[in-house]
Amino acid sequence: MLPKFMRMIIFFVHQNLKNLPLSKILDIEKINNVDKPIEVANGLPNECYTNQGYLAHEKEKIFYNKWTAIGVGSSIPKIGDAKPCNLLGIPLILIRDKNMDVRVFHNVCSHRGFKLMDKACKLKNVIRCPYHSWAYDFNGQLVATPHIGGLNNHQSTNFNKTKSNLKEVKTKLWMDIVFVNINSNELDFDQYIKPLEERWSKFINKDDQKLIVKSDDYGYFSLEVKTNWKFAIENYCESYHLPTIHPELNKISNINDHYHIQGLPNRFAGQGSKKYDQIVKGNKIFDTFPNWEKSMLKNSEYIALFPNVMIGLHVDHFYVFWLEPLAMNKTKEHMQMYYVGEESANGEQLKEMRKQNLKFWKDVMLEDINAVEGMQEGRNSPVYNGGNFSPIMDQPTHQFHKWVAQNLIG
Ligand code: FES
Ligand SMILES: [Fe+2]
Repeated sequence: MLPKFMRMIIFFVHQNLKNLPLSKILDIEKINNVDKPIEVANGLPNECYTNQGYLAHEKEKIFYNKWTAIGVGSSIPKIGDAKPCNLLGIPLILIRDKNMDVRVFHNVCSHRGFKLMDKACKLKNVIRCPYHSWAYDFNGQLVATPHIGGLNNHQSTNFNKTKSNLKEVKTKLWMDIVFVNINSNELDFDQYIKPLEERWSKFINKDDQKLIVKSDDYGYFSLEVKTNWKFAIENYCESYHLPTIHPELNKISNINDHYHIQGLPNRFAGQGSKKYDQIVKGNKIFDTFPNWEKSMLKNSEYIALFPNVMIGLHVDHFYVFWLEPLAMNKTKEHMQMYYVGEESANGEQLKEMRKQNLKFWKDVMLEDINAVEGMQEGRNSPVYNGGNFSPIMDQPTHQFHKWVAQNLIG
């Protein structure tokens, strides 16, 4: 172990790094270079992938200021289902309340600040703090303060309970994805998502959104990847790497059949395919979205909704692939699969097909690990300045870099 004075110096440097303004961490000119025309633009500089001090800025401006995905509602399907989660250091609780709404609270007791919940659980009527047993109802209201006024006296005349409720986080459930806006300063979610909903209205209208059902048997997997979360988004936005990283996928979903997607205003980007065919085939097929434009049955779209959720929409299935940043160079990827209606999502007859479908996507995501981890390794090189973009193949990736840059310095 290092001598105590050395540990104190490291701690001191670390603490101060966290408080440095962005201009002391990286050359702002480098960030400005991102927002140039694609032919002359550079990508985000190395510090955005390697520097601890940078992370403090990214947390605030990218994750706490924006609508960020933290999970899926169907993981807490029944009243009283609750689970903790951690968003870059902030402890949160997701809970299904008595109106069947998903709510998110800060996971901290208002008494002495104990973390209320550390594993998923089924609550009866209250969230009870394990430390001194204060209790909150599913609306976050403080409803019990045992012995606060001395033994067996559960009231205190000068204590105003209503000021000690749990702190709720601005939350929205959309296509089963739980979005939070920690700083409560982003545009109303319905407005925020409108451009994407309008784009997708030819595939699924608002009513059809309600048809998606989570698959319980072959529906979920997670991967821990040694990379910065941004590389997963960048990689998802482009089909340029299809022939090299996914030779098998390229046979059925060829690079020539893909098109770019660049949302305006800039909140999402990605790619689409015009040759989607059912990945797995059996005697029975998955049900399809009923109002999907008939001339576009073979279209599928893969969109990264910034900052941290990637969604894949096909006529017969939908997936949510969201990122939980763990460190500058570590990310947990979560994948959840959905089908159209209960029979396709959980019926016995289609079980084998669901298994194959999930395996197909998992293999694709596993192939991508090499790509995203390789980019992280490369960012340790001092001679790399953020690199360049192909003006034709990298447009959606450039769009994501611009979004990050604009939010960092905007
Ligand atoms: S810290 Fe929660 S009841 Fe005391
Ligand atoms: Fe890929």
